[in-house]
Amino acid sequence: MIIGLTYDLRSDYRKEGYSEEETAEFDRESTIEAIELTLQQLGYQTDRIGHVRHLLQRLSVGDRWDMVFNICEGMHGIGREAQVPAVLDIYQIPYTFSDPLVLSLTLHKGMTKRVVRDYGIPTPGFVIIERMEDCASVDLQYPLFVKPNAEGTGKGINSLSKVNTREELEIICRDLLMRYPTGLLVEEFLPGREFTVGILGTGHEGYSIGIMEIVYKKDDAKSIYSYETKSDYLKAVEYKIPDTEIAEKCIALALETWKVLGCRDGGRVDIRVDRFGTPNFIEVNPLAGLDKVHSDLPILAYMHGYDFERIIAEIMHSARKRAGLL
Ligand SMILES: Nc1ncnc2c1ncn2[C@@H]1O[C@H](COP(=O)(O)OP(=O)(O)OP(=O)(O)O)[C@@H](O)[C@H]1O
Ligand SMILES: [Mg+2]
Repeated sequence: MIIGLTYDLRSDYRKEGYSEEETAEFDRESTIEAIELTLQQLGYQTDRIGHVRHLLQRLSVGDRWDMVFNICEGMHGIGREAQVPAVLDIYQIPYTFSDPLVLSLTLHKGMTKRVVRDYGIPTPGFVIIERMEDCASVDLQYPLFVKPNAEGTGKGINSLSKVNTREELEIICRDLLMRYPTGLLVEEFLPGREFTVGILGTGHEGYSIGIMEIVYKKDDAKSIYSYETKSDYLKAVEYKIPDTEIAEKCIALALETWKVLGCRDGGRVDIRVDRFGTPNFIEVNPLAGLDKVHSDLPILAYMHGYDFERIIAEIMHSARKRAGLL
């Protein structure tokens, strides 16, 4: 079986003239290498394709694959994560992970929260800020948390993201809107414990492969799982397996989210506890990082006895089952 690999490699975009910052969240060579090697160890033939424009070139000269292992997050537009899946749908080539609807929706954190809340899943009250004037409509209980509405990897999040007053809110919104003009998400701050749940499988067949608690080493009320924290995770945080009671509640919330959104094959749901002790949905990652060493999904999987090969094998099993290729 020939598996094409689509990915956004930092060095490919750097060669095209994109800056270090623009490409900061894209994959490094070692991540792709590990996925490719693992697929080969599982008995698949692999073929590296690259990003969406490489895919278009390859398709236009007639190349085809039995399945594509897709981890492209895309470069431009709110539909950027959906572009590769949408193109592959045109050619009826099956691929791993979620479809264009899920990947467009979940890149927009506010819209995702509306859908999730409609299913009764707890998530903090929020407002989308697209212009400074929108700050006047914020009628939420402080402290609040401000982040870009459509970014990942902790971009635009730091210790100033938590705000206590209208004045602080306006200062951070002004700054962030300049850098992220597509909009911000202002949410009520969740002061409690933080967890991330790893899920494999598709929709209602999704199953948890484990939960990890993010415990901040500095006991700082502003502790958040930002880009800096993640980059320095060995020093800044400890990862723990939480007690059964809270673990069960978080896993139930994560699986319900996975099911109602129809996410596929694998990913993570991020959760934090509110001031009443209830776990709340923060966001879902249907294209969770798959770096063997640095990414949360593999890290939490190892804590629960999985190895990297088993993660990739189960992602492939789920994708092949959907495509009728078992
Ligand atoms: N409402 C909130 N209350 C408290 N902390 C929050 C809230 N929203 C986000 N955070 C903190 O900020 C972190 C990053 O938020 P979020 O997961 O939405 O961003 P991201 O950039 O998409 O992250 P990822 O790296 O998982 O892609 C969370 O893990 C949490 O520590
Ligand atoms: Mg997150």
